[in-house]
Amino acid sequence: MTVFVKQNELKDYLKSFWDEKKSIGFVPTMGALHQGHLSLMSESLKKNSLTVVSIFVNPTQFNNPEDLKKYPRTLDSDVEKIKNLDSNIIVYAPTVDDIYEGKTESTSFKYDGLEFQMEGKHRPGHFDGVGTIVKKLFEIVQPNNAYFGEKDFQQLQIVKKLVEKYKIPVKINGCKIHREANGLAMSSRNERLSNEERSKASFIFKTISEAAKLFSKKSAQEVSNWVNDQFKKQNTFELEYFEIADEATLIECKRKNKNKKYRAFIAVFVNNIRLIDNISLK
Ligand code: PAJ
Repeated sequence: MTVFVKQNELKDYLKSFWDEKKSIGFVPTMGALHQGHLSLMSESLKKNSLTVVSIFVNPTQFNNPEDLKKYPRTLDSDVEKIKNLDSNIIVYAPTVDDIYEGKTESTSFKYDGLEFQMEGKHRPGHFDGVGTIVKKLFEIVQPNNAYFGEKDFQQLQIVKKLVEKYKIPVKINGCKIHREANGLAMSSRNERLSNEERSKASFIFKTISEAAKLFSKKSAQEVSNWVNDQFKKQNTFELEYFEIADEATLIECKRKNKNKKYRAFIAVFVNNIRLIDNISLK
């Protein structure tokens, strides 16, 4: 399996695929790979001649320096996992310099208001960092398809907006959330949880699943109040936000409109580790 560290070497390799118009599928990641990441790669393998995976902990999208410092970095075992899935996958694992060329800064992006909701409110600058890295990676890899998880639903919508606004010729494919057996959404940050916290964290998915059921007969405000009450009854998890929002605009639902699709979004702290999840509401 080939691992490229330098963008120029990767581009040299990809040139024949571009010239021959062979379909390239791309899965951007920050590593510490789990089954959720691997499921995106499987989707790409089904539909493309070549799959490229990037592993890069992007400094400009971290609003919290401590989170960046503690983000798990496990390149060797990541490469092993990819090799076991399919040894034809190409890995791009650059240094910060190879990407940012001495200027580790993000550009400012406008995503028609998507950036002002939820994660955008709570993580200032985060989506500028995401836009900056995703745009750079798309320019390097020039994929036909790119795969993003619904786990980061707001990011998925923002990346769709980015390619639309900048007319980047790549199809963005959204993929289902992979969960642990207890319902906890898989996340690289789960590695920082103790065994006890990890098992207790099923509480997050249980709560939003119950909220999804309640939403069929209660208002968004009533469901929100119920979720807040559940969090008050325990002391392991601290609720940062729970919000029911329109899937397309991500604007909070004040009054239900049957022509709109809604989703419930949650962000929770456990012992300074921030976890997010979401669920579709029928
Ligand atoms: P990272 O958190 O590593 O996630 C990489 C991709 O895997 C994202 O599209 C994310 O939504 C998806 N993913 C994570 N957990 C998942 C799960 N449990 N089920 C399904 N998909 C899951 O998201 C990022 O990295 C970065 O912001 C990135 C896009 C790479 C830009 O730096």
